[in-house]
Amino acid sequence: MIDHSTIERIFDAAQITEVVQEFVSLKKRGVNYLGLCPFHNEKTPSFTVSPAKGIFKCFGCGKGGNSVNFIMEHEHLSYPEALKWLAKKYHIEFEEKEVTAEELQKQNERESLLVVTQYASKLFNENLFNGREGIALGLSYFRERGFRDAVLKKFEVGYSNEKRDDLTSRALDAGYKKDYLVQSGLTIDKETHLFDRFAGRIMFPIHSLSGQVLGFGGRIIKKDPHAAKYVNTPETEIYHKSRIVYGIFQARQAILHADRCYLVEGYTDVLSMHEAGIENVVASSGTALTQEQIRLIKRFTPNITMLYDGDYAGVKASLRGTDMVLEEGMNVRIVLLPDGEDPDSYSKKVSNEEYAKYLTDNETDFIKFKTSILLSEAKSDPVARANLVRDVVRSIAVIPDQISRTIYIKECSSQLSMPEEVILDEVMKLRKQPTFRERNSFPVQDSVVNTTLTKTGEKKKPFTAFYSEREILRLLVRYGSEIIDKITDRETGIETITTVADYIVTQITEDELGFEEPLFEMMFSEIKFHTEQGLLTNERQFINHQNPQVSSIAVDLLTEKYQLSNIWKEKGTWVETEEMKLKTVVTDTVLKFKSDKIKLMQKELQKAITEAAGDQDKMDQLMEKYRLMTVLQKQISSRLGDRIVL
Ligand code: GTP
Ligand code: MN
Repeated sequence: MIDHSTIERIFDAAQITEVVQEFVSLKKRGVNYLGLCPFHNEKTPSFTVSPAKGIFKCFGCGKGGNSVNFIMEHEHLSYPEALKWLAKKYHIEFEEKEVTAEELQKQNERESLLVVTQYASKLFNENLFNGREGIALGLSYFRERGFRDAVLKKFEVGYSNEKRDDLTSRALDAGYKKDYLVQSGLTIDKETHLFDRFAGRIMFPIHSLSGQVLGFGGRIIKKDPHAAKYVNTPETEIYHKSRIVYGIFQARQAILHADRCYLVEGYTDVLSMHEAGIENVVASSGTALTQEQIRLIKRFTPNITMLYDGDYAGVKASLRGTDMVLEEGMNVRIVLLPDGEDPDSYSKKVSNEEYAKYLTDNETDFIKFKTSILLSEAKSDPVARANLVRDVVRSIAVIPDQISRTIYIKECSSQLSMPEEVILDEVMKLRKQPTFRERNSFPVQDSVVNTTLTKTGEKKKPFTAFYSEREILRLLVRYGSEIIDKITDRETGIETITTVADYIVTQITEDELGFEEPLFEMMFSEIKFHTEQGLLTNERQFINHQNPQVSSIAVDLLTEKYQLSNIWKEKGTWVETEEMKLKTVVTDTVLKFKSDKIKLMQKELQKAITEAAGDQDKMDQLMEKYRLMTVLQKQISSRLGDRIVL
């Protein structure tokens, strides 16, 4: 745990503009700064930094937060890691003595391993291009498969001699420690003997983003039914299979440039694509992508195109593991290669131009693709069709961006000849499931977009109090300590003030109302606690909240154009700002909140009434309750007047 005062010192030191400017160039615009968002691709800047509030917010992709959030997002760090990052930048000491010693050792170990893998990579490369055995067996194999030296050199491929301990003994002679050779996975310690893991294979070094050799993939070149085709470096201190994709070092510039990343399966596929002039390509190394790998790619582009063999197994494989990519908000497309071809074989059959053309001509959006595949499989079998719908709905539901979801729902509706509302309903149901939400994190960006959807008339959407809950929270976070009422006691002369927080907390607590959204509930109880202690709440408290989800919502709430303005638009008093109208805005919002809650309770009652059918007493009781709520609802409506159509 990092102690509180250290965290505070970090927050105080980490000026948002300074932190952001390390990665984004900013221009001053009035009181704020503006730049190109580092989290999505844009040509006109919508990434705003407010030094006064200490926050950043992108109005394009919706990302926002404080300095720590920025570092978390940008550098893919956890909360404590981001704090450490900032502490280092601002020379703030971190009290973590034991960890430091251990970390130091780990650090040294990592560096030693990197030195060993670098040495091995050079040696393998030497073997391939200059060694007699390497040229005869390795280089001739590569040449036979049509790889030119330029590509072989770019990927620093190599050859590991057949002698069982060729690398190990040479490395030991050169002074490298046995321990590191073993720990790097290059050498296998069989107690009596030390062996090379990769003897007799062509070698594909796996590079980090910055070009360090982390591990290897070694392909067999002789026919041996007992040996594995590929041997890979096992998990080591520096090589974590799930965190790296093959080829990213050689592809990163091209990915940025093309704003698209091709994903293939094998090492040789990557090399062949480069041969064919397509350099924005990485390989998953035969397994489904992990979240870390997706995020790594996402640093360069949100667009990913997966290339698959045209055979049935390949098609099926393409359906697996792709939801994860969608979940990360990536745009996924699929290219099916002609039957029996993989990226390597096909690129060699056709010219580079034909290949490139094939890829662009045959790109299909993933969800469309999935739907059509499943559709052709299900045909008219009703059970299979139901499963298919569920499957497709699940893929759509994980997409974080609501606009994309809406577009997909439209498309699938026509593809499946099924009403949009039905699909939307299913997607919404799934997104509401607590387990689903937990897995897919809180849909912070939804809110802004949701308004558009409501406007375009999604009448079938199940009613929730989400917006009024959110609006209450927004007023609390933004104006919590503003005074909306002052009453002076005639006799004593004592002045009683009411802040926005006082008013809202009292109103909600008295009626024993709560929030459906767990994060809102949590934020509300924090505010309630503060207010009841006579303390003031302020923006900073939430912007710099320990819980990154809270700080990110707070930023959202603080930066969004207020929704309640609709009310004023209708009344024609558009010019007045929210602050000027604060008291009315607050009381109206509380009324709207209550009205929504009543609506929800009435829905519940309706259900209970139908369920109670037969039990007259119970029904009467419930009906009476229902009637009372209708009366309340009417009262609220008349108080709100014509401002809001409930
Ligand atoms: P070529 O057959 O030479 O074209 O290689 P490839 O890279 O195209 O291989 P393939 O399509 O068979 O497999 C795709 C990827 O899966 C490979 O690049 C490896 O990362 C992985 N892979 C394949 N076979 C094995 C194996 O036997 N063991 C391990 N660990 N990985 C394998
Ligand atoms: Mn292949």
